[in-house]
Amino acid sequence: MPFTAVAQTQPPAPIVIETAHLSLALAVGQNHKLYQTYLGPKLAAAADYQGLPQRHEAYPPAGTDNLFEPALRVVHADGNPGLALAYVGTETTKTDDAATTIIRLRDPLYPVEVRLHFVAYQREDVIKTWTEIVHHEKKPVVLTNYASAMLHFEASKYYLTQLHGDWAEEGKEVESQLTSGTKVLDTKLGTRAAMYQTASFFLATDRPATETTGNVLAGSLAWTGNFRLAFELDNEQALRVSAGINPYSSQYTLPAGQVFTTPEFIFTYSTQGKGQASRNLHRWARQQGGELDGTLPRLTLLNNWEATYFDFNEPKLDALMGDAAKLGADLFLLDDGWFGNKYPRKDDHQGLGDWQPTTSKLPNGVGHLVQTATKEGIKFGIWIEPEMVNPKSELYEKHPDWVLKLPGRPEDYYRNQLVLDLTNPKVQDFVYGIVDAQLSQGVAYLKWDCNRMITNGYSQYLGKDQSHLYVDYVRGLYRVLDRVRQKYPHVPMMLCSGGGARADYGGLKYFTEFWASDNTDALERVYIQWGFLNFFPSNAIASHVTNWNPQQTLKFRTDVAMSGKLGYDIEVSKMTPAELQFSQQAVKDYKRLSPVIWQGDLYKLRSPYEGNQAALLYVAENQAEAVVFGYNLRTRFHETVLPVKLLGLDPARRYRLTEINLMPGQKSNLPANGQTYSGDYLQKVGVVLSDPEAKALTSHVLEVTAE
Ligand code: GLA
Repeated sequence: MPFTAVAQTQPPAPIVIETAHLSLALAVGQNHKLYQTYLGPKLAAAADYQGLPQRHEAYPPAGTDNLFEPALRVVHADGNPGLALAYVGTETTKTDDAATTIIRLRDPLYPVEVRLHFVAYQREDVIKTWTEIVHHEKKPVVLTNYASAMLHFEASKYYLTQLHGDWAEEGKEVESQLTSGTKVLDTKLGTRAAMYQTASFFLATDRPATETTGNVLAGSLAWTGNFRLAFELDNEQALRVSAGINPYSSQYTLPAGQVFTTPEFIFTYSTQGKGQASRNLHRWARQQGGELDGTLPRLTLLNNWEATYFDFNEPKLDALMGDAAKLGADLFLLDDGWFGNKYPRKDDHQGLGDWQPTTSKLPNGVGHLVQTATKEGIKFGIWIEPEMVNPKSELYEKHPDWVLKLPGRPEDYYRNQLVLDLTNPKVQDFVYGIVDAQLSQGVAYLKWDCNRMITNGYSQYLGKDQSHLYVDYVRGLYRVLDRVRQKYPHVPMMLCSGGGARADYGGLKYFTEFWASDNTDALERVYIQWGFLNFFPSNAIASHVTNWNPQQTLKFRTDVAMSGKLGYDIEVSKMTPAELQFSQQAVKDYKRLSPVIWQGDLYKLRSPYEGNQAALLYVAENQAEAVVFGYNLRTRFHETVLPVKLLGLDPARRYRLTEINLMPGQKSNLPANGQTYSGDYLQKVGVVLSDPEAKALTSHVLEVTAE
């Protein structure tokens, strides 16, 4: 695209990017710079956007007059490290759902252009933003910082809520007040990137937000790799939030004419607390492509991982598929351990990379398993970990150059494996081939795993551009997934990363769900799912009933899994008749209620972080039906359990409450069971969601139906 000179003499009118309730205003100064002048609830009078103070450069470049966190730093082809960005123009387009604004900026001295993209989703009150950087210098320039977005705030205090964790303890919520200086949430893990930190957050201004009160921004970076979220509180109490790829070890050399596109940063804003912000994101994800096929039904599956681990064969799997059908599941998911012949995958020490079925275990291949499933009236899904390789594999023997490893240093293993070099198009073809081979033979679901991070990262393919590794790895991954989705647009796929280390909207564009954690202890899951539900809709959060903690009742485990995307990873044949009957009914009820659980609005009623109870509710958009989940956690002897106010219902309607998920023969002893109340009563007075003698690790599920 040819560069036009910066010809603006009179600053144009403010650029207001707005949704039904939110607006972001930008204005061009006399100095041609672009400023963010407002971010918050929409102003009632459009004229009020005129004349707002111009204190914060919207996308501040480094090396000229910027003193704080830059959005973009470019080292020009001549070695000059200074960048200035002047306003060039704005283009806007509109559809029924969204308004797109593209603001062009350029350096008056060097042919470097920046395009800030904003898509404002009206109904969902969500803005998606990203940046394109392009130049026409004589030689490549080097990008050392390249944020997707920067947002500015002015408030007396700032409170950040983040999710952090580790393997089997994902999604832990923690809130802290920001102090002067920079707080950074980031990852340098490359693959399995979000193992310790998650790229989603809440930021409340002036005072901490609750579920129902407070001004709060929710933000999430759509990138399945190294990210960096920086919150810099300056000397004047202003906060700049920068979100983007982590520039750590990732200087990017950009040839002339090539567009560098950053990942998308998605945000919403609520004046009524975190709950509204979560609901906005959920609705956006489901309806605007944030997750794949967000409004389509999901499959209820039975997985064999915790039931068998690597120890299975064809007859055992055939029997398990019979069990899946008996349970009422839609699909059987065969996990790790089905592949490798020279080095059969009998444990996690070998075979990864050799994606042929192990003939001693599966003499009739995957085709037979698909057939058995079909006979049983269910579908068949399979586990793959296509980005990885065990050194003990034929793949490694054949293609040692496809592995990320530092020349001259010992290989560094994690779960006995290495990462394949997805920057290499040949490796991308190989990975695509693994997926295609499965899906073209009738496999109806994939669990795509990624069990290690990048260490000793070095790509033989990239040669001297090693600092492109982290960025180009993720781009390579997305290239493969784009191809997969071109050929198989709707096959459901679960994104797993040794648990929940890939919970991000970059991945969810291609996946219908993610595995939140290998930890399926139901008590732990209440917290893990609670954390992820802040930012992701329930139909994206795979939640399975397992035997991880057999001390917990099957009912408790089921009640917890049912508040997300229900699945099973349990030996159905070992269930007692009563347990089987209970589970069959639970699956039936879940399917009946899943439109409400998946598509409804989530109200978090009682946080597990604040006491010994947790409660949440999903309500259908038409407010005719809701499902309430109440959990007693580490409830103490004689602990008082207060009524829970059921939010989101229509105050003018009457609702009948019916307890479901009761064990055969068990009678409900909830006083509210079978009663009818007005929505007004339920939201103001509430109901007790516990037996009179509240016991630890008990739970209740109530169906709420408008009369
Ligand atoms: C990871 C996943 C598990 C399971 C195993 C298989 O740990 O998170 O769910 O698939 O790999 O090896």
